[in-house]
Order: sequence, then C-alpha cells, then structure tokens
Amino acid sequence: MTFKHDIVIIGAGLAGLRAAVEAIPSANVAVVSKVLPTRSHSGAAQGGIAAALGNEEEDHWEWHLYDTVKGSDYLGDQDVIEIMVRDAPRAIYELEHMGVPFSRRSDGRIAQRNFGGHTRDYGTAPVRRACYAADHTGRVVLDTLHDECLRRRVRFYAEHHVLSLVFEEKRCAGVVTYNLVSGRLDFLQARAVLLAGGGCGKIFRTTSNAFATTGEMLGLVYQSGLPLQDMEFVQFHPTGLYPLGILISEAARGEGAVLVNGLGERFMERYAPRIRDLAARDVVSRAILTELQAGRGVGGEAYVHLDLTGLGERKIREKLWEVASLARTYAGLDPSRQPIPVAPTCHYLMGGIPTDGDGRVLADEKGNVAPGLYAAGEAACLSVHGANRLGCNSLLDLLVFGRRAGRAMMEEVASREGRISGPVDPVPAVQERLNLLTGQEGRERADDLRQQMQSLMMDQASVFRTEGGLKSAIGLVQRLQERLKRMAIRNRGRIFNYELMEALELQHQLALSEVILTSALHRRESRGAHFREDYPERNDATYLKHTLVFSGLPPRVRYKPVRITRFQPEARDY
Ligand code: FUM
Repeated sequence: MTFKHDIVIIGAGLAGLRAAVEAIPSANVAVVSKVLPTRSHSGAAQGGIAAALGNEEEDHWEWHLYDTVKGSDYLGDQDVIEIMVRDAPRAIYELEHMGVPFSRRSDGRIAQRNFGGHTRDYGTAPVRRACYAADHTGRVVLDTLHDECLRRRVRFYAEHHVLSLVFEEKRCAGVVTYNLVSGRLDFLQARAVLLAGGGCGKIFRTTSNAFATTGEMLGLVYQSGLPLQDMEFVQFHPTGLYPLGILISEAARGEGAVLVNGLGERFMERYAPRIRDLAARDVVSRAILTELQAGRGVGGEAYVHLDLTGLGERKIREKLWEVASLARTYAGLDPSRQPIPVAPTCHYLMGGIPTDGDGRVLADEKGNVAPGLYAAGEAACLSVHGANRLGCNSLLDLLVFGRRAGRAMMEEVASREGRISGPVDPVPAVQERLNLLTGQEGRERADDLRQQMQSLMMDQASVFRTEGGLKSAIGLVQRLQERLKRMAIRNRGRIFNYELMEALELQHQLALSEVILTSALHRRESRGAHFREDYPERNDATYLKHTLVFSGLPPRVRYKPVRITRFQPEARDY
C-alpha cells in the first residue's frame, strides 16, 4: 500500500523523536521504527547529557567547546560544535519543561556530575557538566519524547524494516518498508525523509549496542551512490562488562569509581596524570588494552577491574542503580563490595552520513546536498565528534541536531506545498529483489557469515590497527560478500521473518565493514579512536581532513577539509 506523509522519519530514538516534535505542528509526520519505539537504543544511554549549566561549579560553553574539540583530536568541525555547546543549556531546560525527571541538588537545581574529558579552564581539572537522571538518562528522555509525540499525534510505524530509499529525479521521495507484523511491503511517500536509525555497532563481536543497531540507514545511503564520512572512527567504550560488553556507565567513574589492574595499581595515573580515570575514552580504552597486553589483567584474564567499593552503598543505590543491577544480573556480584570486571566494548560510530548543521545530507565534498534527504543522530556525521566523542555529548547531539533537522524539514515542506506526485510504485521492484533473495539456492547461513564478520572486525579493526591486518580483513570481507550470494533463507514465510531481515542487514553490514576498513587503511596516522600501530603519531600536515568513501569496486576514497574556527591543533594529553 502507499501512505502519504509530509515527513517520514526513520528511527524512534532521541534524534528522530526530537525532530518529529519540532516538525509536527505544521507538517504531517510519521516515524518508522524497526523495533517498538520505546525499545530504541537511545533508551540504553545511561550517564547523562553535557551542558555548561554551572550548577555545581563555574563552567562556560567555551570550555565545553574546547573539551569537545580536543576530545575529537581536532577533527571535529568547530562551527557546528559551537552551535551544539551553545545550545546545550536550552536543550536541557526544554527537557525539564517537558517533564524529564532529572536528578536534583538539594537546592532544587539540576544536579551535574563528572564525565570523561570534560574539564574546567581549558583542561586543568575535571568539571561537573553532565546533567543526569541517576544512570538511566536516555530511558527517561526517550519516554518523555515518545509521550510528546503521542500527544501531538505523530503517526508511528512500529516494527517496520526499511528496505529501500526511493528517489525521483535524484530527490528522496520516500521509503519502502517491510511490515514485520503483517508481512506487507508499503511505500511511505514523503516530501522529506530523515534518517535517524543509529549506528552499526553490531558489526563488532563485542559491543554495548542493542540488537537493532545494524546500520541499514548508512548502508542504504551508501548503496544509493552517496558517500559515508569518517567511518574509520569507531569508539570503544572503556568499561564494557566482561565478557558480554554490556555498558557499565562512565557515570561510575564520574562518581568516583577507579580502574585497577591485576597488580592492584590505579594504572590511569601513568596514561593521564592530570585527570586519570576521567580522560577521554580513546585514551582510557588504549590504556586498558595496553595493560592487558603487558600481562597485567586481573588473574591473567582479559579484563581489569572497575572498583566502586569506595563509593558506599547509598551513592550506588541513588545514582548508579542501573550499573548495580547490570553487575548483579549479568556478573552475579554486588559492586558495593566487589569490583566489576571490564574491558573495552564497541560503543559508538563517530562517522556516518555527512550532513550540514541542519541535517541536510551532503552528496559530495563540495557541499552539494541530496534533495529531500536528511540525517541526524549517530547515523549522521556533522562532524561534532571528530575522531573521538566525549561521553554525554551524544544525547546532546541528538537533541540539538534532531531539533534543527525537524525545523529545516518543516521549512522545506512548507516551501513545497501542493500534491505529492511521487514516482511509479516502487514496491514491485523491491518485492522482486526479495523474491530473488529468498529463492537463492545455497548452503551458506546468515548467522554464520555474520559471526565471521564480527570476529574479523574485532580482531583487525577495533582499538589497534595495522596495514597488514586491515588489508587481510578487506580480503576476508570480500570473500564473505561472495559467500553471501550462496546464502539460503529457509524461512519462506512473510510474517516476522527475522531470518530474511538478518540476511538484509548482513548485506549492509558487510558493505559498511569494507568502508570502515578502507577508510582506516587509507588514514596512515593515529588520531582519536583510530590508532595505527604502524603510524602511532597524529599527522596534521597530511591527515587533518575528513574521509569520504563512495561505493565502487574498490570503494573510492576522497577527502574534505576540517573547519577550524578557534582552536588550532595542539598536542593532546590529559
Ligand atoms: O558511559 C555512559 O554512560 C555513556 C554515555 C555516552 O556514551 O554518552
């Protein structure tokens, strides 16, 4: 069937919902979600939202700007970072007015806590900048925005998988979806489409990411001939619960927990003498892995300890109950008495679909836009996080740039009044593609290929990388792509056909793996989350630039400059 809307938003996380709230007053808005909307991955964000409110101590947006630029290892575009940090206090008060139950100080103001890389006075000492609701901040913001959307009658298409972007004379005119519940394919026609479907952490074996973060939005854009930006920059969060990789929030360290190696040493003193456990994530993750490689893991195992025992039961109960519950449920331990085993886990994609500051998708390095197409949130790359994101800047990014994208789409839609004409019905061609896939003969299984991809990405493209490892991984990914052509889908049913969905996801995941590996291979330097053992230094003379990868055999790599307004690159230490 065909459904017509002014704006179709893919993804019901914070970026998508914030955009919907902004656009709904004057546009007909629909949100498509692969899962039930309140199960979107934003709900797993724990620690907080960064904003220089100064409720606990002196703070300024200029300090937040500096920290974010430095955290990005100078790859972030400083004009858009400035937009984000200046808008942060407004974004927080807006949520407060919507009813988000932030944790409070005794004087009633919003409480703020420390978080990695956030400092006072241009790097001298940690500053309490993260606004939080205990350690389930993403959950309460997601629920609040979802309520707002329901109140404003946003139309939800829940459990709908997007199969295709539809273009009419190069203008995005909607999407084709697979309704998991009915098994039907629909065409959702629109004047503007926002891609806010999150990142692709599930490409890696160990990740804090939810099941649904398989990167289709990025894959669909890439498949359409549009570029992906800075895909070599994949963040590994230092404290994934070992061995599962579930997020143990940085809020724990923000509240005073410390990392300890197998010798009982607070090893971060060696790697970040000034702010130790509160250094930026790339620094802490590399430090943990360096300790492990030197044989200083706990009991010779591949983890270190996150020690909360000095915090006291009351603080843990009031501020870190999600951390405590995860430790209890998945490791069977009480963090007020026992340290938590942790190791780095794939957490966040700094790269993504290139956009301008209003979410318009950029089609090339010259700044030409892809008409009708927008992106926001983790799927997008503005770039406000550059080579490494600071904790608590993600929810902020979703809120600030989700709103801006919503507004820009609303204005575009208003300027394109009149009937939505639309292309010829795109559903039959997509159905034909599905028929070919489900009719394929062969012995390969999607879950087997996926596990091989996840292992090789973990082994060759996680925290430490080398030329040889990346080249061999590219070869292996290409072989997996060949084997994919011999994959059989046994489930021929239409309703809740997860086997089919996983096969479609895998096609995108393999393409994205190749993009990550290719970008990483071409960047012969170390910057932020991209560490090349064979090129361990940052090289601003050659690589202070953004990578763009276009599809092709092999993928084509181009570059565009970084926008620097205030802070010239400096040596980065904590
Ligand atoms: O550690 C955390 O709570 C994660 C926060 C973030 O990624 O911003």
